[in-house]
Amino acid sequence: MTAVQELRKEFPLLAGHPELAYLDNAATAQRPRAVLDAQRRFYEEDNANPLRGLYDLSLRATQAYENARETVAEFLHAREPEEILFTRNASESLNLVSHSWGVFLEPGDEILITVMEHHSNLLPWQQAARRTQTPLKLNFLECGPDGTISEEAFRSALTEHTRIVAMTQVSNVLGVENDVKRFAAMAHAAGAVFVCDAAQSVPHMPVDVQDLDVDFLAFSGHKMCGPMGIGVLYGKRALLEKMPPFLYGGEMIEYVTREDATYAEVPHKFEAGTVNAAGAVGLAAAVKFYQDLGMDAIVQREEHLSALALEALSAVPHLHLLGSADPKNRHGIFTFTLDDVHPHDIAQVLNGDGVCIRAGHHCAQPLLASLGLPSTARASLAFYNTEEEIGRLAESLSTVRRRLGCGN
Ligand code: ALA
Repeated sequence: MTAVQELRKEFPLLAGHPELAYLDNAATAQRPRAVLDAQRRFYEEDNANPLRGLYDLSLRATQAYENARETVAEFLHAREPEEILFTRNASESLNLVSHSWGVFLEPGDEILITVMEHHSNLLPWQQAARRTQTPLKLNFLECGPDGTISEEAFRSALTEHTRIVAMTQVSNVLGVENDVKRFAAMAHAAGAVFVCDAAQSVPHMPVDVQDLDVDFLAFSGHKMCGPMGIGVLYGKRALLEKMPPFLYGGEMIEYVTREDATYAEVPHKFEAGTVNAAGAVGLAAAVKFYQDLGMDAIVQREEHLSALALEALSAVPHLHLLGSADPKNRHGIFTFTLDDVHPHDIAQVLNGDGVCIRAGHHCAQPLLASLGLPSTARASLAFYNTEEEIGRLAESLSTVRRRLGCGN
């Protein structure tokens, strides 16, 4: 990978704010100039409403949007671009599945999710369960203290009534990876569809939807250096074709009468209204940026940084780290508590030192409740972070207790 200081020059925010150590990448990443330029170029040179106009400019906008779909399909190794739907973010993608696949659920069916799900992959299923006439069961798979979900636990949680398994590939709190390929195969053998929340995995590891054999997979553009407001839902074509639309409106129809409508083909029947073409173009530029760096190089760099962070944070007195001791199973995520200090105070003190981390429940309250923790602090890394920033994090953390009068 390009030397990190050279790479950071590509990111205007990082280059313009050398005083900051930005370590909140699991919340949102920073954007390289290539992404910002691609969006600006779309608006300056190709902007018209895509998928509608018959004039050249609109055709160019349509082409740019559909090219972005192809780029994302290739990145995820989907069979065809039509299996890629553009949404606003992973939350919307998961809501789409829970509504449009959720219509096939019947009383007595069960949905299986894990206790470590982000609220984005929990609340849509709570609502799907409520929409059936007789309450449908939403079952939870527990995880070990380091986040591990064993094959035995998964097998015993699956029942003959399980219709949907929805699971994150990487926990946004623990950083651990679930064996999605194995669990998807087991879900299929039990007659269930498998929905994967890949919001924290796609930015950090190669994800191949055919190899994983998941039925649906969701992620957000902004966590992988793309724009905010653009997300992706991958779905197997045969399933997408069976599903009713999620949102209704412009450009998702074939024919409309006063009383009824027939709908456009996949993927357009799921993309009502004017689409976020500039966002899709920006996301495609982010994908190309990742491909140019190389996914293997990104993984290697992040594992190196994770090993350093594990060592540095383990040496901070009174600090308790959640998750795995294996740097290969962190995906950049380091969630922790510090004795006697509220996580919001940790984040506040670090902010004074220019170190940006997140504190709170990380939109995963059931997981925190199961761990007996109301709140935690989280530092999260990306490939552009430096060894020096990890040093600043550990240095600042080791002074927090003293600065707040809690002792050394
Ligand atoms: N889902 C994002 C996070 O974990 C916002 O911080």
